[in-house]
Amino acid sequence: MNILGLNYYYHDSTACLVVDGKIAVAIEEERLTREKHTAAFPQKAIERCLSVAGMNPKDLDAVAVSIKHSKDWAKKAFYVLAHAPSVRPFNAQGMATNVGRQAGFTNWYRNTWPKDGPKVYSVPHHGAHAAGTFLVSPYEDAAILSLDGSGEWATSFIGQGNGSQVTCFSESFFPNSLGSFYETATQFCGFRPNYDEGKTMGLAPFGDPEVYGKTVDRMATVDAEGAIKIDLSYFDYQFWGSQRYSQKFIAAFGIPRKGKEFETNHKNVAAAFQKVLEERALNLCAVLRKRTNSRYLIIAGGVALNSVMNGRILREAGFDDIYVMPAAGDNGTAIGAAFYVYNSLLNQPRVFVHDNPFLGTSYSDEHIAKVISECKLPAKRHDDISSAAARMLADGKILGWFQGHMEIGPRALGNRSILANPTLPYMKDKINAEVKHREAFRPFAPSVPVEAKDKYFDIIGESPVMLKVCPVKPHMRDLLPAITHVDGSARLHTVSKATNPLFHDLLEKFGALTGTPVLLNTSFNVQGEPIIESPEDAIRCLLSTGLDALAMGSFLITKNQLTEMSMR
Ligand SMILES: [Fe+2]
Repeated sequence: MNILGLNYYYHDSTACLVVDGKIAVAIEEERLTREKHTAAFPQKAIERCLSVAGMNPKDLDAVAVSIKHSKDWAKKAFYVLAHAPSVRPFNAQGMATNVGRQAGFTNWYRNTWPKDGPKVYSVPHHGAHAAGTFLVSPYEDAAILSLDGSGEWATSFIGQGNGSQVTCFSESFFPNSLGSFYETATQFCGFRPNYDEGKTMGLAPFGDPEVYGKTVDRMATVDAEGAIKIDLSYFDYQFWGSQRYSQKFIAAFGIPRKGKEFETNHKNVAAAFQKVLEERALNLCAVLRKRTNSRYLIIAGGVALNSVMNGRILREAGFDDIYVMPAAGDNGTAIGAAFYVYNSLLNQPRVFVHDNPFLGTSYSDEHIAKVISECKLPAKRHDDISSAAARMLADGKILGWFQGHMEIGPRALGNRSILANPTLPYMKDKINAEVKHREAFRPFAPSVPVEAKDKYFDIIGESPVMLKVCPVKPHMRDLLPAITHVDGSARLHTVSKATNPLFHDLLEKFGALTGTPVLLNTSFNVQGEPIIESPEDAIRCLLSTGLDALAMGSFLITKNQLTEMSMR
């Protein structure tokens, strides 16, 4: 059975193909259109999914979408219209956008199948987040925590998964939203709400969470049933206006960041909101611990990208382990919708664990050689590309690493990565200044073979999709300055031979040369752009940044060779 899963209604538009209960391919539209977080209809992603899988639209048995137009969706619209007369023109524009997105789907469907198309299943947004994550987890039974800004109307989902079914204990509803609560702090700190929450998380350790702690603590509560309540007097997000904080918020926390510099109040706001988010998530976990006997927890929704929160839940919530899928945000709802239909609605057995994020396009050496030749670039072919790459990294070079199938989700996990030696004290500033051009305070993440993780990091279990933050062992922090954050933590990526043998081999070879099998791993892009997808994207990034070399398939292109070529 072939199910096309789609997220077209929220940001991070995505398409995936689930074939007989397994993901065959999943691609975010942004990687193909190069518009980061695009909410455009995922036309290119659909076409690419079908092409990679060797299918035609007539091969599809069902289409599953992660939006259900119900009375809940209408409730949200009426709430906004009723409560914000002064911003009605903006809301009308928002409504028009939503209608346009739905029309985009309808037009695509009618154009693709003028008659007799596959059945369309509409899955509620949080159902797609929650059930989708549970159904691809390694657990037969698990507690479920899903948090985001909002879907149709719900902002949270707490429940339990068992076998192919999911039970919801309680939901919270817009505007009582922990996601929107945190997005407001993101905007106050001068970042883009709904997109840059990772920057707020990275800024938080520079502030003191106690300065505004009591005020922020009172702004968000969780009751014994798991209902979230927000003191809306501090917020304006509920009106869909462009400014999410109210005058009362400014009176409490000072002037929002407008320029480049961070003032103390911005750092303290980030710290307090991060701490309260973690504590409310722990409150919700306590409700789940009372309601279930589950040993495991799955965390879903955009808030699940807060890897510091996930790390704290792992350490403190009392579950044996947690699972977060690599595309925990709205991109993953395309996958969730498809699995919800296959397992829960059609009652098919679960046969798949989503432990491998490499679900996108791959390019053959022949294709890569053709692109390099067309660009008239010098390149050397290596039978053992990881040995050649490890030598460059050991020499302190910054390397673009383009191998195999592209990752799904926001983290580069060793197939579209920029890599460097994390033991060099200057490396973080060098990559920020010469390659990534991003804020200097933001930390870089480490990748380590799973067998070596306990030597360098304090982590329970594994962190295969880089969505858990853990302490770097105190005596290893000086050895790993480029990946140790100011509070001694790191957003860890553990690499197994089974999931990514080539990247695992590179880490081992780098370890053999340097004595430390840990690499700095950041996404292969420059600030503001999506992660690269194709060989052409990789070459563009090589030539427009301070990357020293690009290892693409079996080929190594170095800037030294380019310099020699230009001198001839
Ligand atoms: Fe969501």
